[in-house]
Order: sequence, then structure tokens, then C-alpha cells
Amino acid sequence: MKGTRQFRCFMAVFSLIACATLMAPSLAGAAPAAKAAAPAAPAAPKESAPVAKATIALASEDCAKCHPVPPADIEAAGGKHKSDVSCLDCHASHRPATQNNIPKCSNCHEGKPHFQLKNCMECHKNPHKPLNIVLGPKVTEPCLTCHADQIKQLRENKSKHSALYCSNCHDVHRKIPQCVKCHKPHSAEMTQADCKKCHKAHKPTVVVYGQDVPNKDCGACHKAAMNLLAATATRHKTVLCVKCHKDKHKMIPDCTQCHTKLHPAAILKKFPKCSICHSIAHDLNNWPAGKDGAAAPSAKPAKEHKKK
Ligand code: HEC
Ligand code: HEC
Ligand code: HEC
Ligand code: HEC
Ligand code: HEC
Ligand code: HEC
Ligand code: HEC
Ligand code: HEC
Ligand code: HEC
Ligand code: HEC
Ligand code: HEC
Ligand code: HEC
Repeated sequence: MKGTRQFRCFMAVFSLIACATLMAPSLAGAAPAAKAAAPAAPAAPKESAPVAKATIALASEDCAKCHPVPPADIEAAGGKHKSDVSCLDCHASHRPATQNNIPKCSNCHEGKPHFQLKNCMECHKNPHKPLNIVLGPKVTEPCLTCHADQIKQLRENKSKHSALYCSNCHDVHRKIPQCVKCHKPHSAEMTQADCKKCHKAHKPTVVVYGQDVPNKDCGACHKAAMNLLAATATRHKTVLCVKCHKDKHKMIPDCTQCHTKLHPAAILKKFPKCSICHSIAHDLNNWPAGKDGAAAPSAKPAKEHKKK
């Protein structure tokens, strides 16, 4: 039933179109006054045919009668293609008057590097939902038309991430991927939220951190150091790893960074290294072991590297 009505409507409009085609060069421009809501067509002839005026006007509201999907799409997610333009701004005319009424994006979008890209509709799949963007698996260059910082970081800090495409990680625009989707945390207690304390995605091998890293996160790879410090009877026990190994991975602190009240110069001249008497910072020769009689554990720094 509905189909029949549509068909009649179709026939009616098209006979009018055919008629209008004979009388006026532009269908859309033929009757600007017939529908108040119709946006002004760009090249409306000043004096259009009076006969057409009252009867034929293909306005944006009419389109839905035969094309239900585009209006619904625009209604749902048209964005500025809903608010800033109408159907007729893009589809200025109609068959049979015009065989191709599909606009080029460049009719309206020019002047930015982004608009020099090829195949706009590869990403903007549906012009009626312009921000429903679908990214392929191998996209980098197009991203650079808007984002410059990230590629700079990736190139200046070469890592295995530098060889990936942007869209390998950002498969949906604006989506931030989880590191743990692709990597196992260093320990069972560590979660996604911890990764960014030490890593930045676009320069993952430059490990820098603040003061909010707990000892157990370092201990994921440095068990011996963590255990030695946890067991020590000295007051270094309460000092966090990141207080001494400040800011940057592998930095070794100088004792004098924190200790300014030093022993007499004569002693230090004779024993120029603190470690001669205090051994390793993690245990300080189990200082003050003498007092409580506990046996000092090996002063030797544990060899513990290359845990994985
Ligand atoms: C009476 C029904 C009817 C109305 C009303 C109508 N159209 Fe169409 N339209 C058609 C038909 C049928 C076709 C397909 C013509 C063909 O394939 O030869 C078509 C084709 C099109 C196409 C081209 C599609 C292509 O693949 O090339 C566009 C764009 C279009 N219409 C937009 C509109 C817009 C915008 C409106 C409102 C201003 C509108 N139409 C109103 C029936 C209609
Ligand atoms: C910003 C420009 C723009 C606006 C606004 C716009 N369209 Fe389109 N429309 C396009 C483009 C571009 C295509 C071609 C899509 C393709 O090739 O897949 C298209 C395709 C179409 C088609 C044919 C293909 C299909 O999806 O059926 C119809 C019909 C159509 N539009 C109707 C409308 C109607 C009705 C409106 C208003 C509610 C409208 N369009 C608003 C740009 C626009
Ligand atoms: C008739 C003019 C016109 C055509 C043709 C047109 N657009 Fe637009 N488009 C606009 C206007 C106007 C805006 C809003 C202002 C702006 O962002 O420049 C817009 C905005 C957009 C937006 C942002 C939408 C939002 O809500 O922020 C995207 C994406 C877009 N256009 C993509 C396209 C693509 C892709 C094409 C080709 C398929 C196209 N446009 C064709 C006029 C047009
Ligand atoms: C590789 C995918 C891709 C291609 C190809 C592409 N775009 Fe975009 N476009 C995007 C993304 C992503 C955005 C950002 C959307 C957002 O802000 O959420 C965007 C935003 C836009 C916007 C709105 C923001 C602005 O700067 O005005 C317009 C308009 C636009 N694109 C038009 C085009 C046109 C025209 C083409 C073809 C010349 C094109 N796009 C090609 C992915 C693409
Ligand atoms: C047309 C310009 C444009 C293009 C092209 C574009 N973007 Fe964006 N992107 C934006 C804008 C605008 C934002 C929002 C920025 C903001 O909120 O500060 C954004 C946000 C993002 C965000 C989220 C930022 C956050 O803080 O949460 C990511 C991730 C992103 N883009 C990645 C990409 C990737 C990957 C590509 C290529 C596939 C791309 N973008 C292409 C304009 C673009
Ligand atoms: C989409 C998957 C993906 C995501 C998400 C991801 N990575 Fe990677 N990452 C990789 C791949 C692939 C490699 C290379 C692995 C290889 O070759 O063994 C890699 C390598 C690394 C490396 C070693 C780099 C080198 O050059 O040796 C580090 C560190 C790293 N990732 C940390 C992270 C962190 C931290 C995050 C979150 C901010 C993250 N990754 C998110 C896929 C991903
Ligand atoms: C290995 C996965 C991965 C790759 C490859 C990647 N990103 Fe990201 N990106 C992320 C993660 C994770 C974040 C969240 C911030 C963080 O962890 O450092 C992010 C954040 C962003 C942001 C938000 C602002 C910022 O810098 O934090 C933008 C924009 C962005 N990426 C764009 C890009 C672009 C453009 C490319 C390609 C040149 C790219 N990304 C490559 C994973 C990746
Ligand atoms: C306490 C700091 C810290 C935290 C938190 C951290 N990492 Fe790391 N990560 C490192 C250090 C340091 C290295 C480099 C070791 C080296 O030089 O070989 C590394 C290396 C990596 C590597 C390279 C391969 C490997 O295992 O050596 C990947 C992948 C990685 N981290 C992923 C992650 C993920 C995912 C998270 C969050 C769950 C995370 N990291 C949290 C410090 C950290
Ligand atoms: C993903 C494992 C991993 C994590 C997490 C990690 N490291 Fe390392 N760390 C290593 C590796 C691997 C080395 C290099 C060992 C080598 O060179 O033999 C290393 C070396 C060191 C060194 C010694 C540098 C030297 O000159 O001998 C220090 C100090 C260090 N890490 C401190 C830390 C601190 C503090 C944390 C926590 C913020 C931490 N590490 C987190 C893997 C890690
Ligand atoms: C990040 C700062 C920092 C660094 C670097 C540092 N220390 Fe300490 N040290 C402390 C703090 C804090 C205490 C406890 C002081 C207190 O409680 O008054 C301490 C205490 C000590 C004590 C007394 C232990 C006790 O239990 O009575 C000795 C001895 C000592 N440090 C030696 C060293 C030596 C040797 C180095 C270099 C290998 C060093 N420290 C590096 C912060 C540091
Ligand atoms: C010749 C051996 C020797 C050397 C070398 C040495 N110390 Fe000590 N240090 C000691 C002794 C013994 C004590 C305990 C003194 C006490 O109990 O009064 C001590 C105590 C300390 C204390 C604890 C003071 C307090 O008030 O609790 C600190 C801190 C300290 N030394 C730091 C250093 C630093 C830093 C260096 C290197 C610049 C260093 N020491 C070099 C033997 C040494
Ligand atoms: C009081 C300062 C201090 C604290 C706290 C501290 N370190 Fe150290 N660490 C040092 C110093 C100084 C060295 C160089 C060896 C020495 O002179 O004692 C060192 C050496 C290391 C080394 C290389 C030698 C080795 O033992 O393998 C690693 C790894 C290390 N620390 C990890 C850690 C971790 C993990 C923590 C926390 C659990 C930690 N450190 C806590 C000062 C500290």
C-alpha cells in the first residue's frame, strides 16, 4: 500500500520534473517561494516561470518520501551536515534534469592540508553521517594533516612502536588503546593504570617516572634489590626506590644528594668512597647491625638483571 503511494508520488513528481525541465533551467531554482522551509538555491533565476512556481518545488522535506535512509542518517548523526547545510545544498538538482547530482567534497571543503587527501569517503564512509569515521588498518599519513606531535615523538625516539601505523593502535578515531591489549604487565599486581607512570606510548623505551611509583613496580624486575631493601635494618628501608633513583630509569644517585652533614674531611680523604664503609645503599652493610646483633647479609649487590 505504502509502495503504491510512493510510486504515485514518484510519478507525480517526475512528471512535474519533466515539465519543469522544459520550462526552467534549474528545478531547485524554479520555485523558491513554494516551500518556505526550502533553503535558497545558489543560482535562483530572478524571474522563474510562473506556472512552475505554485506547483513544483522539490524541497528537502520531499526527499524522505522516496529516500528514507539519508534523512534518517542525517537526523541521527548529521552533525554540521545537518545544521549547516541542507539536502539541496549538496544535491542541487535531480534526475532527469541532472544526471549526476552527487557533490564533490571539495565544493565546500578547501584550504586545509586535510582537504588535499584522496578518497575522502574511504574514511567518511557516509556523507550523511560525516563524523562516523572508519579507519583502515594502515593509516598514518592522513593523521598527520591534523596531529604533528606524535609522529615527531615516534621518529625522534626510535622504538618498535615507530614501525607501527597510527591506526594499528588507534583503530577508532580518538580511542586510546590499552597497553595490556598487546602486552603483558611486568607483574601480576600491575594493571593498565600503572603503565603510564613509566611509559609514554609514542616513546615507550624512554622510561621516566615521578614519585608515585611504589617499590613493588620496580621490584617486578628487581626482586633482589627490593627484597634486600625491605629486609634491611637501616633507615634506608623507608626510602622509596624512586626517591633515590629519581625521575629516570637507571640513574644512580650520589649519596651527597641527600647527606650533607659529612664525616670529617680527613676521614673522607683516606676513604674517598662512602661504600668502603657503608657498602651498598640498599643495605648499608646492614647498618646498624652491631646494635641488635643481627648478622649482616652479603654486602655484594645482587646480580639480578634481565628478569623478564
Ligand atoms: C518521487 C520520488 C523522489 C523524490 C521526491 C526524490 N527523489 Fe531522488 N531519486 C529518486 C529516484 C527513483 C532516483 C533514482 C533515479 C535513477 O536511478 O535513475 C533518485 C536519485 C537520486 C539521487 C542520485 C543517486 C545516484 O545514485 O546517483 C540523489 C542524490 C537523490 N535522488 C537525491 C534526492 C534529493 C536530495 C531529493 C529531495 C530534494 C530527492 N532525491 C527527491 C526518487 C526521488
Ligand atoms: C554535505 C553534503 C550532503 C548532504 C547535506 C546530503 N547529501 Fe546526500 N549524498 C551526498 C554524497 C556525497 C552522496 C554520495 C554517497 C556515495 O557515493 O556513497 C550522497 C548520496 C545520496 C543519495 C544516493 C545514495 C543513497 O544513500 O541512497 C541520496 C538518495 C541522497 N544522498 C539523499 C540525500 C538527502 C535526502 C539529503 C537530505 C536529508 C542529503 N542527501 C543530504 C552528500 C550530501
Ligand atoms: C554543500 C557544501 C558541502 C559539501 C559538498 C560537503 N560538506 Fe562537509 N561540511 C559543510 C559545512 C558547511 C560544514 C560545517 C563547517 C565546516 O566544518 O567546515 C561541513 C562539515 C563537515 C564535517 C564535520 C562535521 C561536524 O559535525 O563537525 C565533515 C567530517 C565533513 N564536512 C565532511 C565532508 C565530506 C567527506 C564531504 C564529501 C563527501 C563533504 N563534507 C561535503 C559543507 C559541505
Ligand atoms: C584517513 C581517514 C580520512 C580521510 C581520507 C579523510 N578524512 Fe576528514 N577526517 C578524518 C578524521 C579522523 C577527522 C577528525 C574527526 C574528529 O575531529 O573527530 C576528520 C575530520 C574532517 C572534517 C572536520 C574537521 C575539519 O578540519 O574541518 C572535515 C570537514 C573533513 N574531515 C573532510 C574531509 C575531506 C573533504 C576529505 C577528502 C579530501 C577527508 N576529510 C578525508 C579522517 C579522514
Ligand atoms: C581533521 C583533523 C583530524 C584528523 C585527520 C585526525 N584527527 Fe585525531 N583528533 C582531531 C581533533 C580535533 C581531536 C580532539 C582534540 C582535542 O580534544 O584536543 C582529535 C583527537 C584524537 C585523539 C584523542 C586525544 C585525546 O586526548 O583523547 C586521538 C588518539 C587521535 N585524535 C588520533 C588520531 C589518529 C590516529 C588519526 C589518523 C587515523 C587522527 N587522529 C586523525 C582531529 C583530527
Ligand atoms: C596495538 C598493539 C600495541 C599497543 C596498544 C601497545 N603496544 Fe607496545 N608494542 C607493540 C608491538 C607490536 C611491539 C613490538 C614487539 C616486538 O617486536 O617484540 C611493541 C613494543 C613495545 C615496547 C618495546 C619497544 C622497543 O623498541 O623495544 C615497549 C616498551 C612497549 N611496546 C610498551 C607499550 C606501552 C607502555 C603501551 C601502552 C602505552 C603499548 N606498548 C601499547 C604493540 C602495541
Ligand atoms: C603503540 C600504540 C600507539 C601508536 C602506534 C600510536 N599511538 Fe597515539 N596514543 C597511544 C596511547 C596509548 C595514547 C595515550 C597516551 C599515552 O599513553 O602516552 C596515545 C595518545 C595519542 C593522542 C592524544 C594526545 C597525546 O599525545 O597523548 C593522539 C593525538 C595520538 N595518540 C595520535 C597518534 C598518531 C597521529 C599516531 C601515529 C603517528 C599514533 N598516535 C600512534 C598509542 C599509540
Ligand atoms: C615502574 C616502571 C614501569 C612500569 C609501571 C611499567 N613498565 Fe614497562 N618497562 C619498564 C622498564 C624500565 C622497561 C625497560 C627494561 C629494559 O631496559 O630492558 C620496560 C619495558 C617494557 C616493555 C618491553 C619488553 C620488556 O618486557 O622488557 C614492554 C612491552 C612494557 N615495558 C610494557 C609495559 C606495560 C604494558 C606496563 C603496564 C602494565 C608497563 N610496562 C609498566 C618500566 C615500567
Ligand atoms: C621491565 C623491567 C624493569 C622495571 C619495571 C624496572 N627496571 Fe630497572 N632495569 C631493568 C633492566 C633490564 C636493567 C638493565 C640491567 C643491565 O644493564 O644489566 C635495569 C637497570 C636498572 C638500574 C641499574 C643501572 C646500572 O647502572 O646498573 C637501576 C638503578 C634501576 N634499573 C632502577 C629501577 C627502578 C628504580 C625502577 C622502578 C622505578 C626500575 N628499575 C624498574 C629492568 C627494569
Ligand atoms: C634520596 C636520598 C638519599 C640518598 C641518595 C641516600 N640516602 Fe642515606 N639516608 C636517607 C634518609 C632519608 C635516611 C634516614 C635519615 C633519617 O631518618 O634521619 C638515610 C640514612 C642513612 C644512614 C643511616 C642509617 C641508619 O639506619 O642509621 C646512612 C649510613 C646512610 N643514609 C648512608 C647513605 C649512603 C652511603 C648513601 C649513598 C650510597 C646514601 N645514604 C644515599 C636518604 C638518602
Ligand atoms: C671510614 C668509614 C666511613 C666512610 C668512608 C663513610 N662513613 Fe658514614 N659512617 C661511618 C660510621 C662508622 C658511622 C656511624 C657513626 C655514628 O654512629 O656516629 C657513619 C654514619 C653515617 C651516617 C649516619 C649519620 C647519622 O646521623 O645517623 C650517614 C648519613 C653517613 N655515615 C653517610 C656517609 C656518606 C654520605 C659517606 C660518603 C661521603 C660516608 N658516610 C662515608 C663510617 C664511614
Ligand atoms: C637510599 C637510596 C636508594 C634506595 C632507596 C634504593 N636504591 Fe637502588 N641503588 C642506590 C645506589 C646508591 C646504588 C648504586 C650502588 C651503591 O652504591 O649502593 C643503587 C643500585 C641499584 C641497582 C643496580 C645494582 C643492583 O643492585 O643490581 C638497582 C637495580 C637498584 N639500585 C634498584 C633499586 C630498587 C628496585 C629500589 C627499591 C626497591 C632501590 N634501588 C632503592 C640507591 C638506592
